[in-house]
Amino acid sequence: MFFLASFEIFVWRENENQYSRFNGRNSDKNSTNFEQIMIEQIDGHVPVLYREVLEHLSLDQDGTPQPRIVVDCTLGLGGHAIGIIRSLRCDDRFIGIEWDAANLEEARNRIDAVLDSLSPANRPRVDLVHDSYAHVQSICTKLGVIPTHALYDLGISSRHADDGDRGFTWRFPGPLDMRYDRTGRLPTAKEWLSTVDIERFTSILREYGEEPHAYGMAKHLLAEHANTPFETTADLAASVSRRSRDRKSILRVFQAVRIAVNGEFDSMRTSIPEILGRLPVGGRISVISFHSVEDRIVKHLFAEVTADEIDNLTGRTSKEAPYRKTTRKPVVPTDAEITENPRARSAKLRTLVRIN
Ligand SMILES: C[S@@+](CC[C@H](N)C(=O)[O-])C[C@H]1O[C@@H](n2cnc3c(N)ncnc32)[C@H](O)[C@@H]1O
Repeated sequence: MFFLASFEIFVWRENENQYSRFNGRNSDKNSTNFEQIMIEQIDGHVPVLYREVLEHLSLDQDGTPQPRIVVDCTLGLGGHAIGIIRSLRCDDRFIGIEWDAANLEEARNRIDAVLDSLSPANRPRVDLVHDSYAHVQSICTKLGVIPTHALYDLGISSRHADDGDRGFTWRFPGPLDMRYDRTGRLPTAKEWLSTVDIERFTSILREYGEEPHAYGMAKHLLAEHANTPFETTADLAASVSRRSRDRKSILRVFQAVRIAVNGEFDSMRTSIPEILGRLPVGGRISVISFHSVEDRIVKHLFAEVTADEIDNLTGRTSKEAPYRKTTRKPVVPTDAEITENPRARSAKLRTLVRIN
């Protein structure tokens, strides 16, 4: 068997209108003609908006640039990646970027097993890169590729949410860390809290966490941290609780600190426009965001390339926008997906296709 026990593939059987467990060693992509959509499960969870991502990336659409060169900028545990890889052929390429070395290795094992199961004609070239997607342009240049498709599934992975040792969650005790990349020069959340000043911390809590009492919370947390430095996620959560009875404040503070420690918004603002600047006509970019601040950034970045230029004098379109949205509103998970995976509840998928 080439699949891990915790990693199962389900097949959508159109005529039966249901998913059933996939038993074959190989998928014959040509004969399935996309009637069958593979659903990857990792520890019982299907990757968020899995079918929707494959649908909107439209790798098999007429007019899709060939060969297809897909960059998964947030490889994670490889859930979406495997679905994508199964849609490619030997002339195509898949590049997976992941900042967390442990996740990258886990994804590599899964992807290797799937590649082994594919026939040579259906096996694309795969490169997995340990780096931040902030460097997507130089990564692509080094690999000598211009992407035709890109995916960003932002934020933390299920491993980060479930492993207290990584320090992302208040639900399990662990060191106050929160770094995706523990091999580089990023400060831990504890170190970051020791250097940030009150003005900066206030604006980070307000902008990244949407904390309504940002100044009071920042002042309180910095004073307590200066007195007895927070060592663990439990220390930070307890300190937030001493200031606010609203349980959501813990969530907001953790979100804001995590975004700041990892420079998440700076990476998005660098990387997404670089991809938008490079995709060929017919190329597509899909982004899944998980909270309103993240989604707003995606929406603004996308708005910049989907607005036609209007001639002030005539009021007519003088230059058509290079991209159009695949849907007017973002795609959100079905009730069934949310019941199955409550973490998906705030997900929003936005996709653009290059039209000129
Ligand atoms: C939501 S998970 C992706 C899950 C993935 N789509 C799957 O199906 O398994 C997001 C991943 O992005 C990674 N990540 C976060 N910031 C990153 C960055 N700047 N560059 C590359 N990877 C990053 C995280 O470590 C995490 O594994």
